Amino acid sequence: MINIVELSHKILSQCEHSNTAIDMTAGKGNDTLFLASIANTVIAFAIQEAAILATKQALEKNHISNVTVIQESHDLFDIYVNREFDLAIYNLGYLPGSDKEIKTDAKTVLRSLEKALSLLSVGGIIVIVIYLHDHIEDLLITDYVSQLGPEFDVLKLQVLNKKDSPYLISITRTKK
Ligand SMILES: C[S@@+](CC[C@H](N)C(=O)[O-])C[C@H]1O[C@@H](n2cnc3c(N)ncnc32)[C@H](O)[C@@H]1O
Repeated sequence: MINIVELSHKILSQCEHSNTAIDMTAGKGNDTLFLASIANTVIAFAIQEAAILATKQALEKNHISNVTVIQESHDLFDIYVNREFDLAIYNLGYLPGSDKEIKTDAKTVLRSLEKALSLLSVGGIIVIVIYLHDHIEDLLITDYVSQLGPEFDVLKLQVLNKKDSPYLISITRTKK
């Protein structure tokens, strides 16, 4: 069976120059740990105390030292990373096993994504993992990325024969 998160990691690992990576939705540390294994420097953003603690614990347990964890909403990431970066992941929704009311919001994601696209290096990749429990988020994001200019390659990957399976969007900058 296809695991959409594993697939998102495979896509991110295609980048040939992974200097700086951003986890826009840190949760339990899985995506952060993966980025730490392929990039020189990682900055992970989370709004939830539980996510900050879980991510820091995962990093300590795995003796990872190239990650900075910041408690901030991802639409304000550029206060901390106002320079070119190579990789980012948005794994949307809520923290599994936690308060389902604390979840990503389409407008906030789009504000963040717009800034992120302007800072993405040539050859850099952003992936967005989308679960279908929020159809507005799904529609708004798909609509936005479908209209990006020719300097980006935008791909959507979805399992079509399983109802409501999550899908992923990958955005690669091909030129300035
Ligand atoms: C599906 S979970 C992410 C899973 C995580 N990447 C992992 O590897 O375990 C979504 C996360 O996004 C966080 N989140 C929601 N809104 C956010 C925002 N505006 N900025 C940063 N994180 C946010 C939630 O608190 C939750 O931890």
